[in-house]
Amino acid sequence: MSIHGKTTLPYIVRKIFEIQHKLYQQQSRLCSTGRLQEAFKVEEEQEFPKINEIKQEASSFYYPVQKPFKHDADIGEQFTYSQLRVRLAGPHQLQPKPDADDLQFGKIFTDHMFKATYHKRLGGWQKPEIMPLENLVIHPAAKVLHYAVELFEGMKAFRGVDGKIRLFRPELNMARMNSSAQRSGLPTFEPEDFIQCISRLVSIDQEWVPHTESASLYIRPTLIGIEPTLGVASSDSALLYTILSPVGGYFAGKETGGVSLLADPRYTRSWPGGVGDRKMGSNYAPTIHVQKEAAKQGFQQVLWLYGEDHQLTEVGTMNVFILMINEHGERELITPPLNGLILPGVVRHSILNLTREWNQFKVTERKITMTEIKKAVYENRVLEMFGAGTACVVSPIERIYYMGDNLLIPTLENSNSLYKQCLNTLLDIQYGRVEHSWAVEID
Ligand code: COI
Repeated sequence: MSIHGKTTLPYIVRKIFEIQHKLYQQQSRLCSTGRLQEAFKVEEEQEFPKINEIKQEASSFYYPVQKPFKHDADIGEQFTYSQLRVRLAGPHQLQPKPDADDLQFGKIFTDHMFKATYHKRLGGWQKPEIMPLENLVIHPAAKVLHYAVELFEGMKAFRGVDGKIRLFRPELNMARMNSSAQRSGLPTFEPEDFIQCISRLVSIDQEWVPHTESASLYIRPTLIGIEPTLGVASSDSALLYTILSPVGGYFAGKETGGVSLLADPRYTRSWPGGVGDRKMGSNYAPTIHVQKEAAKQGFQQVLWLYGEDHQLTEVGTMNVFILMINEHGERELITPPLNGLILPGVVRHSILNLTREWNQFKVTERKITMTEIKKAVYENRVLEMFGAGTACVVSPIERIYYMGDNLLIPTLENSNSLYKQCLNTLLDIQYGRVEHSWAVEID
């Protein structure tokens, strides 16, 4: 017997198993919603430039997407996609899929995960594997548990209106992840091979990609130092893994309103020379207390400030944008510059790309302080503020509490708001309503 010219028995057995597995997956409930029909309707009226007018430029503005990527000389062997082994979950291991309407952020995980280990003494990266989701077993002295030697990425897979599944600018996440790895003393990897492994993982768990445009499959690539020694030094062993979680909106039950922010200059999330521009778990743990403090006072998120002049840096887990009439009477979209304090967000980068292409107002990356914001709010010159990130996409801001002042931001009052234009354009690309090079189809 011959299938595509391959005749080996193991090949035929594997094929049969894969087909069986797909059938089982389809029999378990689809991760879908009753609003499926509605979701397939294409929105009509939009006043902002159509997507074909956007220049499809190379995405290397901030990210040094190095090709080929330059690893440290002593990194050793890389893992490759061609080495990937796949161990599929048995029917008894497959989990029921949730209703896409009930999804909360990061509470449910799919049936499979990706893993690759790195051991310097064994020559570098070992062969990667996709396997049923399982708990990790690590030594209690593993560096990640003591010195937070950990970093991660946030990406999403979208089921488009044509049924195809797409990733959004995955090469940018890979570039950022490698830059976080370098700063953590962890091994770097070949971006293209890792994207292929992630795509295969998503493809295996494809029925978990929600059948709706109000949800997506969140992808969490993670790299941890697992060397079981207590010295504060680079970890000669590491684990790279990826898990998947179907998600709806990040803010449960708050889809249409704007977010309210506590801006308290006693707290900061990053500082010069630190790692605010890398996606490390250690950047997030210290924010949890402040977030709780904000919630206690009735605010949803924290507006992170830095320095004696109270510069705006980020909002919650997002980058921040301000659309205002500046002192010279010009419309200006401002976001803080990538000066080491700011995470180089993929959505941030994309909004800058889009708005620069639209060329409807000045777009700047510059320092902006609370004094400037406060003055502009009092003079009715702030038009909109919004946060941008993979998990939250684009979230309008409606109020900032800053040192006794309640600053009301009219983001939601503008019928043709910029935040919505940005959001809709990104969703159009992500859900395949328009063809765009940023949306990468998986097989
Ligand atoms: C993302 O937007 O992808 C994030 O990483 C936010 C996450 C920390 C919840």
